[in-house]
Amino acid sequence: MKLKDRVAVITGAGSGIGRASAKEFAREGARVVVADINLAGSAETVRQIETGGGRALALETDVADPASVQRLVTQTLKAFSEVHTLFNNAAVQVNKTIEETTVEEWNREIAVNLGGVFLCSKFFMPHLKKTKGSIVNMSSVNGFFVEPMCAGYCATKAAIIGLTKAMAIDHGKDGVRVNCICPGYIDAGLAEGYFQAQPDPAAARAAAGRLHALWRIGRPEEVGRVAVFLASDDASFMTGSAVVVDGGFGSGLPPGN
Ligand SMILES: NC(=O)c1ccc[n+]([C@@H]2O[C@H](COP(=O)([O-])OP(=O)(O)OC[C@H]3O[C@@H](n4cnc5c(N)ncnc54)[C@H](O)[C@@H]3O)[C@@H](O)[C@H]2O)c1
Repeated sequence: MKLKDRVAVITGAGSGIGRASAKEFAREGARVVVADINLAGSAETVRQIETGGGRALALETDVADPASVQRLVTQTLKAFSEVHTLFNNAAVQVNKTIEETTVEEWNREIAVNLGGVFLCSKFFMPHLKKTKGSIVNMSSVNGFFVEPMCAGYCATKAAIIGLTKAMAIDHGKDGVRVNCICPGYIDAGLAEGYFQAQPDPAAARAAAGRLHALWRIGRPEEVGRVAVFLASDDASFMTGSAVVVDGGFGSGLPPGN
């Protein structure tokens, strides 16, 4: 097992890629803190992990709220005494141009997607230094290649790549590694929301598959396994990396498009 006896905190693990990742971390021996604003979803993730013989704890958390994140840190340490990995995965996506996006939507998207990475990293950092742990941030191919109708989201995902590199150089001397993952389309909540926002959701979904060299969108666990790798000692000389997990999306348009 790659993560035996480690403690991993995964935000946004109440559904989608976060849940699939939590299950992969638990399968590799980690005790997992499932931190999500949706407590029912988190409880279901914990149930699935425990059914598989793993250990997990659901903690209701709003990553955009400093007090909530500080409670997450306190409760994590109370339950497990230490923490080795923080996976900043929680995000929301407003499927609008900036002209259509309200000021409230913009502020919330920035606060959750980018502010959440800042707050969780800031408040867990002292404890990650003690274990020489690591941070995995969730970016997206939209951090490099933008798409229509999600301007704020693309901005946050590009910023996360910069923040990952900045944290990596600031904290490498402390033994804390910081990397991020840039997935293509993955069959989970935010992609589904994007498809539903298009005039023909079924056509949008089919078209998305064709944008990848592998001619399909990814599965959540295909991202979760990369997060496990980055959290494990197998990635001991990796920091500041933006790891692309995109089925060839970024290589160019496959023939037939
Ligand atoms: N699905 C994709 O195609 C895709 C592609 C690239 C990157 N990503 C990234 O993967 C991550 C997970 O996306 P997903 O598709 O699994 O979406 P999802 O909606 O299934 O999961 C997001 C989770 O974040 C939680 N969340 C939202 N706001 C929160 C807050 N303030 N505090 C705590 N939790 C909060 C939600 O409750 C939800 O459980 C996101 O960072 C997303 O940007 C997704």
